[in-house]
Amino acid sequence: MSDRTFERFRRLRRTPALRALVAETRLFPRQLVYPIFVRDGQAVREPIRSMPGQERVSVDELVRDVERASELGIGGVLLFGLPIEKDSVGSGAWDEHGVVQRAVRAIREAGPDLVVAVDVCLCGYTDHGHCGVLRDGDVDNDETLPLLAQTAASLAAAGADIVAPSAMMDGQVIAIRSKLDEAGHGDVAIMAYAAKYASAFYGPFRDAADSTPRTGDRRGYQMDSSHVRQGLAEIAADLAEGADVVMVKPALAYLDVIRAARERFDAPLAAYSVSGEYAMLAAAAERGWLDHKATVLESLTAIVRAGADIVITYSALEAARWLR
Ligand code: PBG
Repeated sequence: MSDRTFERFRRLRRTPALRALVAETRLFPRQLVYPIFVRDGQAVREPIRSMPGQERVSVDELVRDVERASELGIGGVLLFGLPIEKDSVGSGAWDEHGVVQRAVRAIREAGPDLVVAVDVCLCGYTDHGHCGVLRDGDVDNDETLPLLAQTAASLAAAGADIVAPSAMMDGQVIAIRSKLDEAGHGDVAIMAYAAKYASAFYGPFRDAADSTPRTGDRRGYQMDSSHVRQGLAEIAADLAEGADVVMVKPALAYLDVIRAARERFDAPLAAYSVSGEYAMLAAAAERGWLDHKATVLESLTAIVRAGADIVITYSALEAARWLR
């Protein structure tokens, strides 16, 4: 019987070398961004209960972690600060001596060769846990904008390469871009959490960052999970406002949005594989129900295959080790 009657796909699957040679999607440590939670104190490494393997670290420990990430060839880190005190407007977010501002300066001094990005939001800094200023029980969009802009400026002054606004306030990108330019930080880039969905997969993060809203939820500003076209409109708006990198978040439950964004836009596209995605795989691995390495690499491959250039993932360090 002739081979010509059907395709022999298995020819290129025969050995690991053949499979690697023809792989359509490839992962590199340089495209991974590692999120880190930084808190006050000295020599502190505090495990995060709902994110096994992740810790809140003090600035001195953070610098060590960032150097390790840099040695592993990771593309960047994304910092989240845990302030000592919170208030109604989140003023700790733009405190020039705040923990995340100090962390950025300390990393700059150590000088590792990776990108330093910092999250810009108020939810970790407000006593009510919402991402902006409350007015009659609702987050006031326009009153929040100058506070986000001021926060971004303080992080740029500390030496951040990228500021990453995640509050989902309309107009936050142009507010931040204008403020950065005015303050002489025209070379600091904006990675916009553009299509950010109101997601139950953020649960472990809110535990880690102590940022659960005291009342209500974030559905009045984050996107409803039903949308694709609205996500594209959010991305288009952020690009028009001056975003340099746009993001889809979460990743695994929104691969269709990543794909649609990739097809529509040419800007660098990031996908945030969020805390709940990490926790699911980590928990199943702890129980011996899933192979940790295989499921993490398969998930990262899926996110890149969908079209992400950059993947923000809590598994960045271990993935980089496996990819060597
Ligand atoms: C701040 C912010 C959140 C995340 C990133 N930035 C939490 C939220 O919006 O509730 C979630 C990240 C994760 O779950 O890993 N607004």
